[in-house]
Formats: sequence, structure tokens, C-alpha cells
Amino acid sequence: MKEKINNILHEVENFSTESLEKLEEFRIEYLSKKGIIPSLFGDFKTVPAEQRKEMGSLLNELKNKAQDKLNDLKQKVSSASQQETNEDIDLSRPVDFREVGTRHPLSIVRRQILDIFSRIGYTVAEGPEIENDWHNFSALNFPEEHPARDMQDTFFISDDKTPSLEKVALRTHTSSVQVRVMENQKPPIRVVAPGRVFRNEAISARAHCIFHQVEGLYIDHNVSFADLKQTLFYFAREFFGEDTKVRFRPSYFPFTEPSAEMDISCNICGGSGCKICKYSGWVEILGCGMVDPNVLESCGIDSKEYTGLAFGMGIERITMLKYQIDDLRLFFENDIRFLKQFEGAF
Ligand code: DAH
Repeated sequence: MKEKINNILHEVENFSTESLEKLEEFRIEYLSKKGIIPSLFGDFKTVPAEQRKEMGSLLNELKNKAQDKLNDLKQKVSSASQQETNEDIDLSRPVDFREVGTRHPLSIVRRQILDIFSRIGYTVAEGPEIENDWHNFSALNFPEEHPARDMQDTFFISDDKTPSLEKVALRTHTSSVQVRVMENQKPPIRVVAPGRVFRNEAISARAHCIFHQVEGLYIDHNVSFADLKQTLFYFAREFFGEDTKVRFRPSYFPFTEPSAEMDISCNICGGSGCKICKYSGWVEILGCGMVDPNVLESCGIDSKEYTGLAFGMGIERITMLKYQIDDLRLFFENDIRFLKQFEGAF
């Protein structure tokens, strides 16, 4: 019997587990009512009287060891599982950085445009989105009855009874910033003015009631149409690539004389003709011209001493050409699947 007890003692001492199930099996096998140890106590009756003292203390030792083992392991297993659950809600764990936001394509392109002009000495100017008639129209040589002041195009803030020259509206173009800069600075002036503009237009793939423009203005002695062409040619090549060709078509804007629209060789087909350029090989990207002397005078600049060039482009249009986006509404929907395609762009 002594040998049997010693063997069991050995088993108990060597037992180890990390699982609660195995621990329960251990308890049942050794310590439950019908387990090995209680049944040894049952056998104790048959032990001869002279061995009883020794056997008794051996049996007690076995029972205590088994019980201690059980308690010990129980504590270890439960504290390990506790630790696991705590880890699940570890508030100090670093967050998962994989879902990094992206810059909006319009912001990317605005930054690129400003950057290209800053390299040839242009600084950034800004003006308010809510404008009065003077800055949006009158100072820019729009006659009072000009159709562009019509309710069709302009979101007026003043009511219908307000005389048109006193009306306040959401600016319809960033050319209003030209006026503000000329009123506040003396030539030489060389600025680009990015901003949001508003027109009362139905929303479609090609038009929106809110969009973005960058205006350019350069005023100094002897600024010529050659400067205008060279500046915009430089911009087109920097932005669309060095193989880009440009052409100027005569146009009309109240605030420039002469006025032109600039086309670039289609950046999709390289000029051979495709759907984007309507098989012409050219796409229009901006309006421009020499600042009308009336505008200079309206803003307090002597038109006999100074001349100026101006240009204005739509950021949406240029972004659509650059990234081959065919629906303007995508810019305003903030669909993560669209925005994600610009990940990493700066
Ligand atoms: N303001 C014009 C528009 O919104 C764009 C424009 C054309 C701006 C010619 C200019 C310019 O400065 O010279 O359509």
C-alpha cells in the first residue's frame, strides 16, 4: 500500500494543466467521492495496526497535496483566462493606423496649381464668398443690364426690391478677388486667388451650383499678351506634362480686352482625337486676357502707366481632365471608394 500511495503522490506532484476541463478531470479522478484518494481511505481499515500511524500520515499528506495542487492550478488557470479577457479591451493598445484619410482630389489639384504659380513669383490672395455687386460685377466692367447678373446665374442674398447696384450675392467667380487686391495693393501685383464660387445651375455630370476656381492677376509696367501666353504655356506644361501644346482662341469677357480662351492638346489621346476632346484633339481649360483699362481705373490703378494680364480656371474641370473623371458630382459625394483612389497623392 505504501508503494501505491507513493506512486499516486508522484502522479499528483507531476500533474499540470492550463485547461479548466483537465483540472476538473483531475479532481474527479483523485478527490471526488469515488476517486482514488477517498477509496484509499476506505482501504485504510485493512492496514495492520502497527503500520496505521505511518500510512495515516502518508494518506493525509497525499490528500493535502492533491487538494493544494487543485487549488493552485485553479487559480493559475483562472488568472490566465482573466488576463486574456483584459487584453481584449486593452485601452492602452495602439490604434490601427491603416485607415488613413486621403486628400480630396480638388485640394490636391489646387495645391499643385498654386505651387506652379508660386515658382514664378505669384502669391496667394483670398476674398469673401459673399460679395457685393461692385466687386463681383460693376468694377469688372459688367454693364448694369448684363445677363450674367440675372437671377438665372446668381444666388442673390438681397431681396428683389434692392436696386441691382446695392445687391449682395454669393460670388459667381473668383475675379472678384482681383478687384479687392487692386483696391488694396499698388503694382507690381502678382497673385493667384483660389476659392469657391456659386451659380444657380442644375446639378449634372458637367455642372454644379458650387465649384472652385483659381484666378490669376499680374499687373506691372509693360505686361503684354506675350507674357500672358508664356505664363499660361508654362503652367500647362508643368501641370499636364512637357509635351502639352496650347492654343488661344479669341473670346469675350467684360473685364479683359483682348480676351481669349486657352485650349491644351488633349492629354488623353495626345491630340489624335477621342471622346474626351470630342475628336478635336483640343480641350478648353481656361479664360484669360489683358485686364481692361476700365477695370484698372475702377480699382484706382492708372491704366496709362500699367497694364495687366488675368486668367481664371475651374479646378473641377482641370481635375477631371488630369484624372479622367467623367462626373463632376463625384467631387461632392464624399464616397470613400472614390476618395481612396487618391491615397498618397499630395
Ligand atoms: N471669371 C471667368 C469665369 O468665371 C473666368 C475668367 C476669364 C477669369 C478670363 C479671368 C479672365 O481672369 O481673364 O468664367
